[in-house]
Amino acid sequence: MPTRNLPCNLDDAWSIVFDHYDPADEGRREALLALGNGYFVTRAAAPEAKADDIHYPGIYRAGLYNRLESHLEVESVQEESLVNLPNWLPLTFRIEGGDWFSVDQVEILSYRQTLDLRQGVLHREIQFCDRQGRQTRLHEQRLVSMKQPHLAGLQIELTAENWSGNIEIRSALDGQVENNNVSRYDPYHDQHLVPAIAEPLEPEGIWLMMRTSQSDIDITLAARTRVSIDDQVAELERTLDQEAAYMAERIQAQVEQGRAIAIEKIAALYTSRDLAISNGAEAAREAIQFAPNFNDLLDAHQRAWQQLWMRCDLDIAPVEYLCAMRLHIFQLLQTVSLHTADIDAGVPARGWHGENYRGHIFWDETFVLSFLSWRFPAAARSILLYRYRRLDAARYLARKYGYQGALFPWRSASTGREETPLYQFNPLSGRWMPDHTHLQHHINAIVAHNVWLYYNITRDTEFLCEYGAELLVEIARFWASIATYNPECDRYEIHHVVGPDEYHTAYPHADTPGINNNTYTNLMAAWTLCHVQKLFDLLPYSRRNELWHTLQLSQDELDHWDGVSRKMQVIFNQDGTLSQYEGFEQLQEFDLQQFEQQNDDQRVDWVIEAQGKDINQYKVAKQADVAMLFFLLSDAEVSDLLERLGYEFGRSQMQQTLKCHFQYTAHQSSLSNLVYAGALATFDIEKSWQLFDQVSFTDLSPEANTGTEVGIHLGAMAGTLHILQHCYLGLEIENGKICLNPCFPNQLERFCLNLHHRQHDLQIKKVGTELNIAAAPTNPNTVQIFYQGEPVKLQPGDLKTFQLRQADASG
Ligand code: BGC
Repeated sequence: MPTRNLPCNLDDAWSIVFDHYDPADEGRREALLALGNGYFVTRAAAPEAKADDIHYPGIYRAGLYNRLESHLEVESVQEESLVNLPNWLPLTFRIEGGDWFSVDQVEILSYRQTLDLRQGVLHREIQFCDRQGRQTRLHEQRLVSMKQPHLAGLQIELTAENWSGNIEIRSALDGQVENNNVSRYDPYHDQHLVPAIAEPLEPEGIWLMMRTSQSDIDITLAARTRVSIDDQVAELERTLDQEAAYMAERIQAQVEQGRAIAIEKIAALYTSRDLAISNGAEAAREAIQFAPNFNDLLDAHQRAWQQLWMRCDLDIAPVEYLCAMRLHIFQLLQTVSLHTADIDAGVPARGWHGENYRGHIFWDETFVLSFLSWRFPAAARSILLYRYRRLDAARYLARKYGYQGALFPWRSASTGREETPLYQFNPLSGRWMPDHTHLQHHINAIVAHNVWLYYNITRDTEFLCEYGAELLVEIARFWASIATYNPECDRYEIHHVVGPDEYHTAYPHADTPGINNNTYTNLMAAWTLCHVQKLFDLLPYSRRNELWHTLQLSQDELDHWDGVSRKMQVIFNQDGTLSQYEGFEQLQEFDLQQFEQQNDDQRVDWVIEAQGKDINQYKVAKQADVAMLFFLLSDAEVSDLLERLGYEFGRSQMQQTLKCHFQYTAHQSSLSNLVYAGALATFDIEKSWQLFDQVSFTDLSPEANTGTEVGIHLGAMAGTLHILQHCYLGLEIENGKICLNPCFPNQLERFCLNLHHRQHDLQIKKVGTELNIAAAPTNPNTVQIFYQGEPVKLQPGDLKTFQLRQADASG
């Protein structure tokens, strides 16, 4: 059992608990305990706090970006960023005209902050003593409604323990905010909002409207604050405080020793991009007028979460993993939920929880897609539609590079243009380093693979016909056009790209960036070209005709794709393992162990550049690269793909490949351990578990120091759920049928998962050395599944038991 210092309540595995205030850890906790609903996210900052060295109260609406121009030493750039919105939280008080309450200014007698995952509520309980010796108890509850996505609520209950007197309450909407979460971005401009309107709201409350400076999006917050004494709403004296981009109400109340007073603030957030509104300001004001009180808002919110958990909960042991997985499900659903389904937003690498990577969309959606497709197909579909809407932008990008078809950018935001910066700052050397990571064209294969995965799980033929097919065809077209024929070896090659390992973006001393024949890229390109042929067999005849007509396809083009898919170049090392790319084997050896001993967790590329050397010279990888193949595809699929290309490649070579690549990987992305945990599941289950263990606590473990304060690691979080479901339980859909090929690590003492597939509910439970599969009595008819390749029929109410293979069973 790991002896980690985890903030989990292990009695029921339903809450994350911090029992002391730690200013140094506050930033991480703000992201880890953030609340959201797929429409917007609010960091768990103290409501009395402004952004400073300790606190950062960020509010983000899914997919809301703005572009600013900055003049850097090396170039002028136009960076698009997820915008930190006006803050709805500000709520504080002062006693007898003293200091405004702040957790940093009082003596804390006791402190407890709890994220209740089951109910979706954040609690903060503080007992404190102020400078005058007055002792007060504070209990704050907060929610961002999962039921009414534009509403959020905050309730603070105060109990004067040894005093009576006047308190003044200040409840504000604060638009005096900037994007300041990531210190690395200090050289860039960060003022995205311009003030528009701040006014009182009739009959009660305040509202504030701001506008993004370039994307011209209106953002309106409206809020209503009420004070109750003895559960009765009190009529109290109110005054207004108004500044540019700031609006507050001050309320005077009398407090008596021992009697609690409750302050509740309900806020509404709307933007001019929302649906079912005339304008955002009117919608926000109206939402507050009709908003329920805190308790009713809470009640509806809790019932919404109850429904979500009925679809998503699982049961595993040891219990700390269960708690971590529930946190991962919770944060995933707060980032992408059914409320996101109508929003034009992709899957941000760090959730909508912080400003790292400016909220850009990379390839991380691939780690969330299978979990969502099984449970919330509409949310999964919206992720793919984010890509479809940017298909024209992807076509332009392909043209820009001189290729055909569509090329999705490595980093995208609102328009689908390439957002990857051309330079990155190295804080160790103080120099700007050229950044060629935009050459990660492999992202195209991920979009194609995701279309296929989603369709396989959901059989959403309408999506495939109207959107998915066009995506696949245009991506296939791109791969066929970037592949160049090399007559010397009679193979197609892909040059000038970058693989998932971002440390290698050029050959040493080369004039142009990019490397050739990255194995992962080449094989996924071949995979796409094979699957586009399968696609045509799935489409109804009429749709196939339409596609041929509108996309001007021809048999010659298809024959060419087939040819490329059979002759793609793959580079092998001398020992027969897959090479990362052409020339990688010839690079200089790098002593990673020694480096890590001498440099702790420092980024290898930064250290090497600071030493005046080029990382491209060395055999050291930032993250899993070739291994990604084995994460996405089964070993049978990999060997079929290679066989089609005329290469023989067995399991022992696969195992050897993974072993050799793992040795030179620095795992400086949270996705690296994740990908290896998945890739190794069928080859080395012990190692796979060790990595799963590490990645499960990327954000939770305070020791990990992984930069959670600038956003959660959403891909790693969701990826652990994928590993449980796909790699350990071995759940897959093949030709529309559920297939199970379990491969459980011994450490996983308990495992239980509910699945809903089409009209059937199944419960799959590992009990000791057996696996029970139960079909719900309410299923409409028999369901057929394949257990380790053998067909099994389950009638409604049936329970079938299977013996797990020796190595897969435990306890
Ligand atoms: C990784 C990418 C990843 C991105 C966002 C980078 O550090 O290299 O693979 O998509 O982070 O998670």
